[in-house]
Amino acid sequence: MQTDALTPPEILRTPAFVADAARFILDCAKRAIAERGLFRLSLAGGNTPKPVYAEFARLGNDGALPWDRVQITFGDERCVAPDHADSNYRMARESLLEAAGIPEGNVFRIAGEDDPEAAARNLEARLSAVASRLGEARYIHDLILLGLGEDGHTASLFPGSPALMETERNLIPVIGPKPPPQRISFTFPLINAAREIAFLVKDPSKEQVIQEVIAGDPRHPASHVRPVNGRVTWIIGE
Ligand code: 6PG
Repeated sequence: MQTDALTPPEILRTPAFVADAARFILDCAKRAIAERGLFRLSLAGGNTPKPVYAEFARLGNDGALPWDRVQITFGDERCVAPDHADSNYRMARESLLEAAGIPEGNVFRIAGEDDPEAAARNLEARLSAVASRLGEARYIHDLILLGLGEDGHTASLFPGSPALMETERNLIPVIGPKPPPQRISFTFPLINAAREIAFLVKDPSKEQVIQEVIAGDPRHPASHVRPVNGRVTWIIGE
């Protein structure tokens, strides 16, 4: 499947959002593990994906997915403790990580409780170590899950942020308008190195911004998600 930044996205509108999104992730997992022995998955934060993660855990357990072959990263994290109600890690732990029994060493948690710059650098080092071992110039995710904000943000890449211009680093501390403001986010170089990217959106109030992003409206950060050698899929709940 040769796709690149010019390949139009796949668009799946579905009333069975949770089931279809979970199945999409499972299919990506099986393909990656069959081809490379590892599934490198980045989780989106926010509220939308939580039931999808729980269903993915259920499907994976039912289908005996080798969870020890799944490596987890986070597209962004709020700078709070891992047990804080706003923590994306906590949301993932409660919906997926515990249910699937993914080994702790496979989970590249962003230490939201630490100094943001130190936490970003720590993750940068961990991703670079894997990339080097696999002969990659930059860590390549098999699948990055992303949400979408009404202002066109994705991960914690918000309109007008200097982080949008980052060309070298994989993760960067940001201050955003969505509380809590202090966050650490993937950058476009890391996002656009992925083999597959899936936007998970289930909010009718976002229909206008979905259309604008798919049309490539440059005002929206999410419009700059264009994998160099990968495919974008929109899974939109109706
Ligand atoms: C975050 C997310 C953010 C989220 C969107 C959509 O940490 O806040 O990464 O990008 O995906 O804001 O959030 P909802 O799914 O809650 O609408």
